[in-house]
Amino acid sequence: HTQSDYQNKKVLITMGPTQEAMDPVRFISNHSSGKMGYALAKAFQARGAEVYVISGPISLNVDKSEFHWTDVKSAKEMYHAAHKLHGLMDICVFAAAVADYAPAEVAPEKIKKSEADLSLKMVKNVDIAFELGKLKHPGQLHVGFALETQNESENAKAKLDKKNFDLIVLNSMRETGAGFKVDTNKVHIYQSSGHSVSSEVDTKAKIAELILDQIKLVPIGV
Ligand code: PMT
Repeated sequence: HTQSDYQNKKVLITMGPTQEAMDPVRFISNHSSGKMGYALAKAFQARGAEVYVISGPISLNVDKSEFHWTDVKSAKEMYHAAHKLHGLMDICVFAAAVADYAPAEVAPEKIKKSEADLSLKMVKNVDIAFELGKLKHPGQLHVGFALETQNESENAKAKLDKKNFDLIVLNSMRETGAGFKVDTNKVHIYQSSGHSVSSEVDTKAKIAELILDQIKLVPIGV
């Protein structure tokens, strides 16, 4: 590929975890570090794209000033930020690990410890990729991720269809050196056209390059 094969492309990337508050001091979240999303942001930037990042809370040492960067906490905030930018984008990459459920209510004060057990009612969060998938415009390309622990390829392909992705990147929790936190990943990429490719374990930077190369094979010609 040439250095500037994504010149003039506007790319939205969601990344990191979301935090769903239960009270002013506690939240429900997951182990996403933001490393995969950040590697994608760097790769697109290096290949000429204008990159818009919407990131959940991360503790990576990153240079946000290189990008159009929005920090968010909850899935709802991530959705609103993404919805606002979506129509202007050529490519949207949904790399965030969005919490599927959030506490039904956020207690206004810290929940006090008592002798009793505590149960928490959770409600479904908005599915950002699914909702924006319904708004995908001609020529726009959507890339999803799937993080699976079982029936990996079936689940990934089902998400590809359901969320109207052009391409989905499966990372399995069963593979060592893949998924959350680590500096490496091992992926299977499925396109809606039926084309697929698998990687070995490699740095997230290298995996990002592979994803960018695969995006260029999508027939709508980004
Ligand atoms: O951040 P790292 O530590 O580097 O780890 C990278 C990663 C494992 C988080 C990343 O590579 C990854 O797989 N991200 C997606 C994780 C995930 O939540 O997958 P999922 O199978 O639950 O979701 C499927 C797709 O829908 C994803 O594109 C996800 O961003 C999107 N989604 C899911 C739920 C939701 N409410 N809104 C969404 O947009």
